[in-house]
Amino acid sequence: MTAVGIDAIEIRTGKLRLDLPNTFAPVKGEDPGKYTKGIGIQYSSLPDVYEDIVTMGANAAKRLMDRKGLTPEDIGRIDVATESAFDNSKPVSTYIAGCLESVYDGDFHHANKGERKFACLAGTQSIDDAYNWIRAGRNRGRAALVIATDTALYERGDPGEATQGAGAVAMLIDEDPDIVALSTEQGYGSADETDFLKPNQQFPSVDGQRSIQVYLARMREALEDYESVAGETHPDDFVYFPFHTPYPGMVRKAALLGYRHITRDTEIEDALADDIGMQPREGDYADREDYEDAIRAYMDELKETRRYQEWYEQAIEPTVDVSGQVGNWYTGSVHVARLSALRAAAERGADLAGEKLLVGSYGSGAQAEIHSETVRDGWREAIDAVDVESQLDARYDLDFEEYELVHDAHNHEKDVDIEEFTQPDGEFVFTGWGRMNERRYEYVE
Ligand code: HMG
Repeated sequence: MTAVGIDAIEIRTGKLRLDLPNTFAPVKGEDPGKYTKGIGIQYSSLPDVYEDIVTMGANAAKRLMDRKGLTPEDIGRIDVATESAFDNSKPVSTYIAGCLESVYDGDFHHANKGERKFACLAGTQSIDDAYNWIRAGRNRGRAALVIATDTALYERGDPGEATQGAGAVAMLIDEDPDIVALSTEQGYGSADETDFLKPNQQFPSVDGQRSIQVYLARMREALEDYESVAGETHPDDFVYFPFHTPYPGMVRKAALLGYRHITRDTEIEDALADDIGMQPREGDYADREDYEDAIRAYMDELKETRRYQEWYEQAIEPTVDVSGQVGNWYTGSVHVARLSALRAAAERGADLAGEKLLVGSYGSGAQAEIHSETVRDGWREAIDAVDVESQLDARYDLDFEEYELVHDAHNHEKDVDIEEFTQPDGEFVFTGWGRMNERRYEYVE
């Protein structure tokens, strides 16, 4: 069976940044340690006034197409995943296709376009759709362009403000891919939850503490479901575990739970037993509460062991590097985690071809999905070509007043007209509204 997966990746960050420990925390009267040690985000990426989900998505896609030498003829499908859409009917993918058609010869009239919604999970679901379309033999030799793009803004004063971000990830899904091939095995954990939602409103309603518990519960279900088709997982089976990263602190919690799960009944549990005992088994406790207390106590000890810490440093830490520099990109977040890990591996000169990743995606509301990916021979060159550093370094540093202004400028309820902080340079920009209230864009050389 021909491998299908991710052949190329590009990201586009919002061009502004807010330094959370040094600019945001002091005004909020918070200890910077909340951001450097707890949440784990140094900078939130934010969009300049002429940026939005369309410009970021189109700019990422254009760079990907230019780098791969693609024309519209080569793309048979454009799927956009977002939870920041501004239209309930016309999909963002049509706007992005329109932008791209303004700079390439030819058009995307032959391409199937859509928009996927399931909170942050939709990026992975769009990859799934592309995978299935190719596997079904309906692609006529063409590749799919999947774009995950979001402006993850919260109401000012909401606890979620500490995790904001804005950016897009464009991915080319194709046969015989250069970066990773996807497994056919998948696991799901899905339930009707009210933890984070946007009922026809721009900024989310969030029950923050509950959202953390729901994330962990659904991921656990997804892992068990994955194991039911793929067999038991073991830490040594996977070189990295890229997970949806609303903020690195969340992944720290998920990783500890995951490690306990995948080391149960293994030689690792036995080896750790001398120091911290065996894992609690439910049958040994009179009631659920005692069992849960015992698990918490076990995990407190587990996270202090050298074995766990070494695994975390190698298999998890590299996945959250970039996220700590940009914040939550919602639908793009797990794809940033994968990219972050592969970049770290490329930097240390690792030979990853044939190694596996266990990828955990999540969307509030809520659903988790877990699958594995096999790194392909061409991964190194494909990852070296992704422009990350120069974009992150070029961002404009906002002071707190500027941050409030730009947040207001993106607030659909406010009519705030401010000067841009950066100058457009070879990119798509938002130029205003048309006669039917459609958004308008142009390419600025
Ligand atoms: P909060 O109340 O601002 O922060 O809310 P906190 O007081 O809970 O502190 C955060 C962490 O920093 C804690 O770590 C503190 O201990 C630590 P924890 O105990 O949880 O391990 N901390 C410190 N550490 C060192 N030195 C210090 C210090 N101070 C504090 N001085 C919360 C945090 C995440 C709830 C909030 O930001 C929020 O509501 N965020 C939005 C929701 C969210 O991101 N949920 C995550 C799971 S749901 C999800 O991932 C889906 C999502 O991406 C949306 C989608 O799917 O579309 C959000």
